[in-house]
Amino acid sequence: MKHFTTVHDVKNVDDLIHEALLLKQDPQAFRHMGRGRTLGLIFMNPSLRTRLSTQKAAMNLGMNVMVMNVDKEGWALEFNEGAVMNGTKVEHIKDAAAVMGTYCDIIGIRCFPGLLDKKEDYSEKVLLSFMKHCRVPVVSLESATLHPLQSFADLVTIKEHWHKKGAPKVVLTWAPHIKALPQAVANSFSEWVLKTNANLVIAQPEGYELCEDYTRGAKIMYDQKKALEGADFVYVKNWSGYKEYGKIHTVKENWLLDNKRMAITNNAKVMHCLPVRRNVELSDELLDGKNSLVIKQAENRLYAAQAVLKQILGGHYKIQSRKLEHEATAYN
Ligand code: CP
Repeated sequence: MKHFTTVHDVKNVDDLIHEALLLKQDPQAFRHMGRGRTLGLIFMNPSLRTRLSTQKAAMNLGMNVMVMNVDKEGWALEFNEGAVMNGTKVEHIKDAAAVMGTYCDIIGIRCFPGLLDKKEDYSEKVLLSFMKHCRVPVVSLESATLHPLQSFADLVTIKEHWHKKGAPKVVLTWAPHIKALPQAVANSFSEWVLKTNANLVIAQPEGYELCEDYTRGAKIMYDQKKALEGADFVYVKNWSGYKEYGKIHTVKENWLLDNKRMAITNNAKVMHCLPVRRNVELSDELLDGKNSLVIKQAENRLYAAQAVLKQILGGHYKIQSRKLEHEATAYN
């Protein structure tokens, strides 16, 4: 694996899940792998789980870790090619990413969407600029459109809690929120679940349809109660409009899940990526109930990140590219 920005970077999802579960049994087993290697974690937005789990994952592999909240601690970055930088932007991504790439063997980056310009957000300008200019393997810590480390940990969690024969019914349901949130977690969860044998149903009110590029193959429903019938796992998440981009629509029905509504499921496990606004997105009784997997999902972020870093370290991409650069310089 060279980069980890989408499920399409993964050769075999089942194998990667298996790897994460093995690492969970013995997290220190590959401490030698990252010796002398450095992971840089670059945040343009806040984080609790992604930051700490990825840092711990790298430490378990013996890596050094540097973390920078570039939005607060770095120079204001320019992303436009050919920009005349006579305004508030101080450093071009070309220079910043190239410099970071010389300090790090792998770079993780978190870059949320602005939710104002669909074309710009879905072009993944920030992530792709970073990948182009840093010249080392990049791990997405959540980009404008996807959150692959979260979805991978979610699948690890589902795997751990599915002990029956056949495929589980997994329902991704929209939940209320007080503000517009990205579609990244929902897009990504759909994309990853569709790579498994699970039956995926996505339930949302009118106006909250996700981009079909990520949901093709899922059953789309507008009635939450019907969607929940017989569900084995219910993944709860808010997202803003995709068609009317970044918009919040008025929803008359009650989409806040509680024990009563969950009674029509197959005693389903409840999932959420966190952070969660309690009793707005999801009720206390479900979050604190016996079927809640939310803390286990967060715990599995560690082993998911460790499996990804281990695969990238195993590729020796950086060592080879450094050697070639050095040789090219020497003969010029
Ligand atoms: N789920 C998740 O990505 O959490 P953080 O935003 O706290 O990293």
